[in-house]
Formats: sequence, structure tokens, C-alpha cells
Amino acid sequence: MQTTTGPQKVVVITGADSGIGLEAAKVLAKQGYEIALICRTKERGNHALAILKSISGPNTQHRLFLSDLADREQIFSVTDALKETYDHIDLLINNAGLMSYKKQLAPDGLELHLAVHVRAPFMLINLLLDRVNAAPAGRIINVSSDLHKSGFLQWDDMSFAQTPYSMMRAYGNSKMALTTMTNELSRRLAGLPLTIGSLHPGVIKTNLFRNFKDMSFLAKAALSLANVFLMTPEQGAKSILMLATDPKLEGQKSIYLHKTTVGKAIPATYEAEAGKRLWKWLESQSTLITMI
Ligand SMILES: NC(=O)c1ccc[n+]([C@@H]2O[C@H](COP(=O)([O-])OP(=O)(O)OC[C@H]3O[C@@H](n4cnc5c(N)ncnc54)[C@H](OP(=O)(O)O)[C@@H]3O)[C@@H](O)[C@H]2O)c1
Repeated sequence: MQTTTGPQKVVVITGADSGIGLEAAKVLAKQGYEIALICRTKERGNHALAILKSISGPNTQHRLFLSDLADREQIFSVTDALKETYDHIDLLINNAGLMSYKKQLAPDGLELHLAVHVRAPFMLINLLLDRVNAAPAGRIINVSSDLHKSGFLQWDDMSFAQTPYSMMRAYGNSKMALTTMTNELSRRLAGLPLTIGSLHPGVIKTNLFRNFKDMSFLAKAALSLANVFLMTPEQGAKSILMLATDPKLEGQKSIYLHKTTVGKAIPATYEAEAGKRLWKWLESQSTLITMI
């Protein structure tokens, strides 16, 4: 594949075939960005690719890259392919996510929320960092959640081997870890002009709740009632777009957006010792020694 050179702005976005990722990609495509979608199924990925192509016209080269982000070997392969294709990446948007009512593990045994929400962004960031640095004003955007506020780093049992599994606990812990990792990354890259942050997009009606089929009847009924009050994916994408393009945020680090307002994550996510420990742990989970 040809390496992209020249001024074309490039976005790498995960989970771009659905929900707020697809909506953000559509707006960025309209703004003239070239989109690299990382998706796990060819069918859904090609569907999203066709939508983006129809927005931009034939001269913009959006591309689909397939990867299951739970599988670290697939992340090594997809980052190799991305590096072959792009000499710079203006926006790296780690958006893919899930909520699993039942406990699930990645192929190497890591709990699935942690694998997709934390290890995958960690690997993509570190393996693509030279490309993000090669852009004139690169940005790294991690889609977290306000549910990080109920989470913590469960050091003695990160993958729920002994601790009774709960979806909300696993989701909250993983988003807390993602925001802690984002803040540690911000400290490590303090001297660079990159923009780095995480965000809560709101509570949005997307496919995120698809696994809830296993819930009790009452919980399902409560959810369908709540659906009426949920934001649309278009509204939810606004926080991603703000962190991706707002000139006022340029060069800032450890940003936390609550929808489209600059806010604060919980204090524990800014603790340097916890950040360092998490970074080391993620290196071991990724089989990666980072350079920063
Ligand atoms: N919806 C909300 O209320 C809400 C609130 C706070 C935060 N968020 C966060 O927003 C982000 C986007 O979620 P959404 O609401 O737009 O949900 P969504 O419509 O379900 O989109 C999630 C995307 O992530 C992808 N994905 C999941 N697991 C993957 C894996 N192992 N490998 C590759 N891709 C994977 C999905 O791909 P497939 O199509 O292949 O499954 C899908 O494209 C998530 O990080 C979520 O935690 C959402």
C-alpha cells in the first residue's frame, strides 16, 4: 500500500461502524479529513466505509482496517498496516467500546472491558505515536465515561478471577483505568505540542446496550423507559469532535470533557504513582516496552 504524504489530514478511529464513532467520522469526512476506520467485521466496516465515501466524493481515500481490539496480536498487525499506509496521523480516536452483562475474556485471558477500553488504546497510542507526532498538531482522544467515577484500579484481581463479576464494576473500572492512562500519557508527553484528553460523551442511544438481552425483565423494562431520555448519536459525537478540532484546546493535556464542557475526572485518575504503576502493568499486558 502507498504511504500518504502531503497535507491531507488523517484520522484513525476505532469502533467507527456504529454509534458515536460513525457519527464523528461522518462529520470529519465532511470537513475533508481522510478516515482510517478500525473495525472488527468486514461487513459492518464496509457499510460505514461506503457511507463515508458517499459523503466525501471519489477523491478522498477513506480506508477500512480490520482488527478485533481484544486481541493484542491483531493490534500489532493493524498498526503495522497503518504505518505502511500513513506517514502522519492528525487524530487518533480510541472510541471502540462495549458493555458485557456476562464476564468475557480476551484471547490471552484479560477481562474484555479492560482489553478493549484500556489495553487497545495503550497499544495503538504507543505503536502509532511517531505518526501522531509527525502531524503538525496531533491529537489523541480517548472516549471514556462518567462511569469512571465509580471505578478503581482493582490491582489484586484486575480480571475478576476471584471477585464476583459485575458489568457496571468492570465497565467503570476500565474507564477509570483509561482516564488514568490518558493522564499518565499527558505527563509523559508534557514537552510535546500534542493535544491529549478523554471524555464523557453523554448517555446516548447506541448499540452499546445490545448485550443487555441477558438482563432481567425488570431491568430491560427500565432501560426501554430510559431510552426516551437518551441523547442521539449525533449529539453524543459532539464531545469527540470538540476534543478533535477545537482550537482552544490545542496543545493541552489531561483534558476531560463532560459532553462539550471542560471538566474534571475524579482525583484518583491524576495520581502520578497510580499512573506509573498502570503504565508498567499495561506494558506487560501488551508485551510492549514503550519509549516514553
Ligand atoms: N452510549 C453511551 O451512552 C455511552 C456513554 C459513555 C461512554 N460511551 C462510550 O462511547 C464509545 C462508543 O460507544 P457507542 O455508544 O457508540 O456504542 P456502539 O454503537 O456499540 O459502538 C461501539 C463500537 O465499538 C466497536 N467494538 C466493540 N468491541 C470491539 C472489539 N473487540 N474490536 C473492535 N471494535 C470493537 C463496535 O464494533 P462492532 O460493531 O463490531 O460491535 C462498535 O463499532 C464507547 O467507548 C463507550 O464506552 C458510550
